[in-house]
Amino acid sequence: MKKIRLGVNIDHVATVRNARGEKYPSPLTAAILAQKYGADSVTIHLREDRRHINDGDLYSIISKLKIPLNLEIAATNEMLKIALKHTPPFICIVPEKRKEITTEGGLNLNFKKNFLKKLIYKLKKNKSRVSLFIEPKISDIKLAKLLKADCIEIHTGKFCKLVNEKKSFKNELNKIKKAVSFGNKIGLEVHAGHGLTYKSAKILSNTKGIREFNIGHFLIGESIFIGLAKTIKQFKKIIR
Ligand code: PXP
Repeated sequence: MKKIRLGVNIDHVATVRNARGEKYPSPLTAAILAQKYGADSVTIHLREDRRHINDGDLYSIISKLKIPLNLEIAATNEMLKIALKHTPPFICIVPEKRKEITTEGGLNLNFKKNFLKKLIYKLKKNKSRVSLFIEPKISDIKLAKLLKADCIEIHTGKFCKLVNEKKSFKNELNKIKKAVSFGNKIGLEVHAGHGLTYKSAKILSNTKGIREFNIGHFLIGESIFIGLAKTIKQFKKIIR
């Protein structure tokens, strides 16, 4: 039993809804169904431009969900205020650029170090578990610990792309393995996410010390063909 938890990211249900400006498909329904079909948590990213999930989604999902909600936010005062108001059990701080298609890399922890420290302190005091989305870099992991984060989420985007393109992924996998091992050694809970498919999740699930995967784009895409229930079941089979 590897016992890796599965966080299901449902942002792209909102992307489909927003493409037509309608009320469907409903992210709330997706969250409730993900819970029913065995997700351990539900992840949503409230972006500054609200391009997928919006404030109404956050409110309805956090009011109805029984499993933990993992709210991804940028390190801004606006997001801090929202997170303090709603108190999601899990928070993951992510970098955000307006023009990016998706979260392209990990946080630059040095950039807003003092603000991040304050943010983490306030969120933890408000009883949220705080994670930092970072690259598999030892210096960043040390800094995450200094900033007093509870967890780190390793950005797996580069590794997953190499797997998808059938290129050599050994170096990138080794970086992730070292990062996971170091994170555990200094007392951080280690998660992983971004770009994961059945194949990349299967390879990564053999890395000892990863406690949680957060998976969205591939999972929602696959569920168009075989349904959310079967997709979640398949991922759980792979990562457990
Ligand atoms: N983890 C974090 C911190 C993310 O920002 C994202 C993308 O929103 C994911 C996981 C999920 O990535 P994907 O949608 O590529 O599975």
